[in-house]
Amino acid sequence: MSALANNSIVAVIGSGAMGAGIAQVAAAAGYTVKLYDTRAEAVSKALLDIGKMYAKLAEKGRMTADEAAAATARLQAAGSLADVSDCALVVEAIVENLDVKRGLFAELEALVSDDCILATNTSSISVTAIAAKLRRPERLVGMHFFNPVPLMALVEVISGLATSEQVAATVYDTSIAWGKSPVHAKSTPGFIVNRVARPFYAEGWRLLNEQAGDAATIDCVLREAGGFRMGPFELMDLIGHDVNFSVTQSVFGAYFNDPRFTPSVLQQEMVNAGFLGRKSGRGFYLYGEGAPAPVAQAESAQATPEFVALSAAIGGDGRGHSGVIRSLVQRLEQASITVSRRVTHEGQAMDEAPALHCNGAAIYLTDGRSATQRAHDNQHPDTVLFDLALDYAGAKRIAVARADQCSDAAYAAVVGLFQAAGFIVTRLDDVPGLAVMRTVAMLANEAADAVNQGVCTVAAVDIAMQKGVNYPRGPLAWADAVGVQHIVTVLHHLAQGYGEDRYRVSPLLRRKLATGATFHAE
Ligand code: NAI
Repeated sequence: MSALANNSIVAVIGSGAMGAGIAQVAAAAGYTVKLYDTRAEAVSKALLDIGKMYAKLAEKGRMTADEAAAATARLQAAGSLADVSDCALVVEAIVENLDVKRGLFAELEALVSDDCILATNTSSISVTAIAAKLRRPERLVGMHFFNPVPLMALVEVISGLATSEQVAATVYDTSIAWGKSPVHAKSTPGFIVNRVARPFYAEGWRLLNEQAGDAATIDCVLREAGGFRMGPFELMDLIGHDVNFSVTQSVFGAYFNDPRFTPSVLQQEMVNAGFLGRKSGRGFYLYGEGAPAPVAQAESAQATPEFVALSAAIGGDGRGHSGVIRSLVQRLEQASITVSRRVTHEGQAMDEAPALHCNGAAIYLTDGRSATQRAHDNQHPDTVLFDLALDYAGAKRIAVARADQCSDAAYAAVVGLFQAAGFIVTRLDDVPGLAVMRTVAMLANEAADAVNQGVCTVAAVDIAMQKGVNYPRGPLAWADAVGVQHIVTVLHHLAQGYGEDRYRVSPLLRRKLATGATFHAE
């Protein structure tokens, strides 16, 4: 472990929301912290707020009163930049502006010792660029915290082209000493989280644009079937559409307009309208007293079908496509629905994928084709698709899409079947890949590309998305669970269906597919 010694002095420059949070965790971990800001009142406010936070933690029993007092005593205001000259680590959390950050680090370099580490909390500027003008650029590293810092465990430790390995390793180990979960990443636009998370929003916008459902319905499916803490629209309402749109534009531009990252015209309109989310009282939802609760689409109660069959063997190790089907079948069986393994002629569809059958309907896990397309391909009109769930055993809701050719009776039977197993059934309009599957496939695709391009490791991307944005499962662990083969099939069908480069399959997914390898060992 090469963390900075516990008696080292840490300076935090910029005492806004991020700086105060960083100072709070460093002092709580036993380090002396000097706080500086061009506005002295920002430092006083931060010191006051942090003191209150410690008192709250002590009340909740998360630290003792003595620890809270000691941590408070370790925090000092720096009256001028010169006061931080004895620090071993400086963490910068000032305005997000390259020239201002460069200016600050140039000033700092003239003050601090040669072995002092300079860290930037930038979320969008190249660490390489911030370091470029320094006398010793190898000492500058990104230390990217997430908001609110005391609650979010992730720290992305970002190496620019010149950053020394030793410096990155020290900051990584120091983050652990501060109680955080760090990951290493190369300085590339969006680093890990702000890049890999883009499809979570982008696919939401696509679904809305194609009228798969309204925002409340899509949010609910991502939450109650996908297991995400928040759906994309409620999350963007929280972040602010102006902020989210600007991050999307910045990543899109930084990747030279790669269609993967194309911003949404719909979001631009939200910004144009001033519907920025919670902070403006209106985004997709209304906020404030008396605001109506969002209502997601749900199908009305239908009769349970009498005969249900499964058309394929679903053995195996529980991972992959057949593992997904098996867990859904288990949920049906636990609800005392008999699922016959004998398929009668009525359910015989011309599709190799495992299907459930009832009342003439063939029911498949979405593979990235629309239900209408699949019904046409199979010459089986009564086709209904269901969406991915994080865990069918516990999911409250299941999303389905019916083919345009599907009869009302067959569709009603499918709804009745899932309702009998305790699901709320939400119908999405027949968009390719439905909501959770399409989002997860694109998250996995982006995560695989980040790994393929040497931005980070497989373990790092999965930790980053869980600890930085609370995803219920790392995208690559999710690809393993659904099966790399199925993820590639979904992406392939999306690419084919839309004819857009946006859905091109990551070379790393193809490589895993060729060998049958998974991202994580079991
Ligand atoms: P903020 O606006 O709350 O605080 C910035 C503080 O820096 C202000 O108190 C300001 O007076 C001070 N400041 C500005 N220029 C200065 C200078 N030259 N020297 C000393 N102090 C100066 O901003 P916030 O949200 O705390 O963000 C700070 C940095 O952290 C930005 O670079 C931002 O991109 C990054 N960041 C922000 C996240 C967020 O969710 N807010 C998440 C991760 C990173």
